[in-house]
Amino acid sequence: MTIPTPTSNGVEGLSGAPAPGIPDEATLGRLASEFFRALPGAALPSFGDLPTSFGAGSAPAPEPSLIQSGPSIAPVPVAPDPVDPVGSGGAEFGVPEAYAASLPSVTPPQPPSQFADQAPVSPPGSPYYFLGEASPYTQSGGIPAKPENRVVAQSFGLPGEGELKSLLAEIAGAREPIAPAGQPANTGNFYFLDAAKVPDAGPTARPAFDVNAVRRDFPILNERVNGKPLVWFDNAATTQKPQSVIDRLAYFYAHENSNIHRAAHELAARATDAYEAARNKVQRFLGAGSADEIIFVRGATEAINLVAKTWGVQNIGEGDEIVVSLLEHHANIVPWQQLAAQVGAKIRVIPVDDTGQLKLDELQKLLNPKTRLVSVTQVSNALGTVTPIKQVIDMAHAAGAKVLVDGAQSVSHLRVNVQALDADFFVFSGHKIFGPTGIGVVYGKKALLEQMPPWQGGGNMIADVTFEKTLFQPAPNKFEAGTGNIADAVGLGAALDYVERIGIENIARYEHDLLVYATRGLSSIPGVRLIGTAADKASVASFVLAGYSTEEVGRALNEEGIAVRSGHHCAQPILRRFGVEATVRPSLAFYNTCEEIDRMLAVIRRLARGKGKVAA
Ligand SMILES: Cc1ncc(COP(=O)(O)O)c(C=O)c1O
Repeated sequence: MTIPTPTSNGVEGLSGAPAPGIPDEATLGRLASEFFRALPGAALPSFGDLPTSFGAGSAPAPEPSLIQSGPSIAPVPVAPDPVDPVGSGGAEFGVPEAYAASLPSVTPPQPPSQFADQAPVSPPGSPYYFLGEASPYTQSGGIPAKPENRVVAQSFGLPGEGELKSLLAEIAGAREPIAPAGQPANTGNFYFLDAAKVPDAGPTARPAFDVNAVRRDFPILNERVNGKPLVWFDNAATTQKPQSVIDRLAYFYAHENSNIHRAAHELAARATDAYEAARNKVQRFLGAGSADEIIFVRGATEAINLVAKTWGVQNIGEGDEIVVSLLEHHANIVPWQQLAAQVGAKIRVIPVDDTGQLKLDELQKLLNPKTRLVSVTQVSNALGTVTPIKQVIDMAHAAGAKVLVDGAQSVSHLRVNVQALDADFFVFSGHKIFGPTGIGVVYGKKALLEQMPPWQGGGNMIADVTFEKTLFQPAPNKFEAGTGNIADAVGLGAALDYVERIGIENIARYEHDLLVYATRGLSSIPGVRLIGTAADKASVASFVLAGYSTEEVGRALNEEGIAVRSGHHCAQPILRRFGVEATVRPSLAFYNTCEEIDRMLAVIRRLARGKGKVAA
């Protein structure tokens, strides 16, 4: 057996002198670059544009498809259902298949680096003397702190827009007037869509959202499953990653990888810059007052555990009460149960009405001087309910309690400002907002974090150690013991950049229309029961289909390349409230289309027709 000769780059045959007849590496790179540039609608930066070793020292690529005005690639056409051929074209419920593809983009050109940080990263008085000095990203001038490409969250002018509330009210059999008096027409009840609150809204701004362009940024959407184009409707479980996030991770490992905060060498400086820049991006994204209020953790689960095991242990004692809601994910139940068992506290639960919305009058009854904490989700992962979180916070504060907001399902769908909300703690997971897995965030008010003890001990979080005593760093470092998930924090920063470039208001508006479309379609199918019909919802259309288990529906959809979650979604109490143990849960993101929804509806219709016992 011939053992291949090892080469310097570890790839057989790709180093040293090229084999006879094979072009050298530079020529290969140039040819590949020309090839990819020539592809119609090519959205990926060429090799030469990427700031990698392929394109030595060249300027990073301009922002890819979001600012390109080239032809849109329509979503892959799908053969209509032969029995019920309504499933193509995205027009079944009156919504065009490609919303804004033909609109001229108003997005101004981006600064050169797709990875550029949005503001100087060196906080005054930083213990990291090299912050802001070393990284080519942070020296590039950066994207201005005011993202000029953010546009007004104005109407896309689509039929069906703003109708979710009325549709769901209809489904839920509500008799009340749907919109509160004085509510502007056609805006629904999405407080985050208030155009007056959107910064940088110029009079000439127009929607630049183009779903086809967005789709080109997500390479995995080109996958085929069971021979069919992938439809990713499992966004509440995890989201797919844009190329800019994938590239940012690769760049980190190719050019910056080092441990942080410690060594006085160049790569430590680059890695620390990148990590702290990501913290700054999270701070801006959440509207926090200081980057010191942002702690990196593994995800929302670890984030809630951190608060329970630090602030909770310190502030909740025997006889005290912790209020959660019936909507909570297990991650926002179990840590509080564990704490309650440890200290002798009591868990109290806010019930929901028949639509799946929190009953605020019941919350009012639960609050009392023993209530130490209210820990509530902003968007339910199982039903999609958008909770009235500001009211919850205000009511809890009035009772003297602190509030933790579980933002795992909200940050990718609606604008969050922790200061405007006055949240004491806010947590989310990077992987649910187009970032990597294994990275998440705790926001905590500075005054609270300062008082909280560390929860893990080790390196990175200390100021001084003797055998008698350890002095800790201030927050956030005292909560980040050991080597953290540096690269994925940087990747999360890139994901937030991506979301900001599109504009969360544009995302919210587009997804709202998609949800209206999906809800209408599902509710028109005999045997479908929607689980969760609150007037304010985001992304999720949970349902059950008479005559089928949720696994059967999930499997049938998977056969057509459509990924949905079926099961209890780690939220058993809320499903049991509706008398079910499991649902089928399509959950939408801004790269989904009406055409994809049509594909799903066609499968469900076919199933519904297939069983005699399905209710008519
Ligand atoms: C509302 C909510 N909270 C918390 C979590 C836990 O997030 P993670 O598994 O990323 O820690 C999830 C995950 O689905 C969720 O939907």
